[in-house]
Amino acid sequence: MQAQLTALVNEAESAAPSVATRPDFDAFKARLVGPNGGLTAAMKAMGSVPKEDKPAMGKLLNATKVRLEEVLAATLARVEDAEIAAKLGPAIDVTLPVTDDAEGLTHPLTQTRERIVGVFRKLGFTVADGPEIESEWTCFDALGTPPDHPARDMQDTLYMPKSFRSPDSPRRADEELCLRTHTSSVQIRTMLAAVATQARTGALPPVRIVAPGRCFRRDTVDATHSANFHQIEGLWVGENVTLRDLKSVLDAFVKEMFGSKAQIRFRPSYFPFTEPSFEMDIKVPDMGRLSDRWLEIMGCGLVDPKVFANVGIDADKYTGLAFGLGVERIAMLQHGIDDIRHFYANDLRFLRQFA
Ligand code: FA5
Repeated sequence: MQAQLTALVNEAESAAPSVATRPDFDAFKARLVGPNGGLTAAMKAMGSVPKEDKPAMGKLLNATKVRLEEVLAATLARVEDAEIAAKLGPAIDVTLPVTDDAEGLTHPLTQTRERIVGVFRKLGFTVADGPEIESEWTCFDALGTPPDHPARDMQDTLYMPKSFRSPDSPRRADEELCLRTHTSSVQIRTMLAAVATQARTGALPPVRIVAPGRCFRRDTVDATHSANFHQIEGLWVGENVTLRDLKSVLDAFVKEMFGSKAQIRFRPSYFPFTEPSFEMDIKVPDMGRLSDRWLEIMGCGLVDPKVFANVGIDADKYTGLAFGLGVERIAMLQHGIDDIRHFYANDLRFLRQFA
């Protein structure tokens, strides 16, 4: 019987490596420990073992059983691993280097925004920020555009459920919220923060900011309009800020961006929050088919005293200048791009040209 048990273990160990599938395993298991298998036969044979040999044979039988269970468990684990690997397909080595070695790059609009902001930093401006979901008061009312004002229709926009309330909303608890239509709302936030500092310290801190950000309008999309675009707002408030400052800041900006031959022109215009108001055009030689034509790039003006009144700044003591330019329009001029939609199509053939 001892020889029978040793042969059973040997057979299990030598046959195990060739068990490859679940049916193979089931047959293998039945052959070793099933009702008609080798172990069951050995247990039945115990009855004919002489009494004095029974303890030793019983021990051997147990050891054989333990060994067979080990072989079966290891074989089953191997078969299951093979089944999972077959489902997963060929092995992937995640440590291999990537095959696409193209370097990442910033989006052309980001590049233009950074360039513009860099120029204004040189001119003494710091960067301010404001939310894209804005209170109606901050976006319109405080900027001289009450609900019945015709200029509000032109920018009428997407309103948000009140549950979107921004926790830092500077005004009423019941105000309506909208997606901001221009970055001019950051003018209001910046001035309110300055007035709060003045209340603490007794002096209005210097206000000379640019505020880049995304804007949303119900505009029909075409080659020069998008419903979602970017602006950079500028605001400078001080004791003696004049139209001459507005012209010299914007002239310096344009020359830095487009070269010393670039010219600017102010055309009278209307914005509810500036008085006087202008559209500013530029003319630049060497800009492909846009060369030597006057092109509108921004709105600007001197801060209307009623805006100062809305935020609590003393309009007898302070004056200010403000401007708002479209980042897409500047990027189109810089690179000779004829359709604004290229910026949003995510076409790598377009984007890689700006590496
Ligand atoms: C304004 O948005 C004013 N807030 C600008 C301003 C600021 C005036 C401070 C005075 C003082 P306007 O609607 O013209 O103005 O937009 C300013 C610029 O944003 C435009 O010259 C244009 O470059 C860009 N812009 C406006 N609408 C779109 C649009 N739908 N798609 C792409 N760019 C746009």
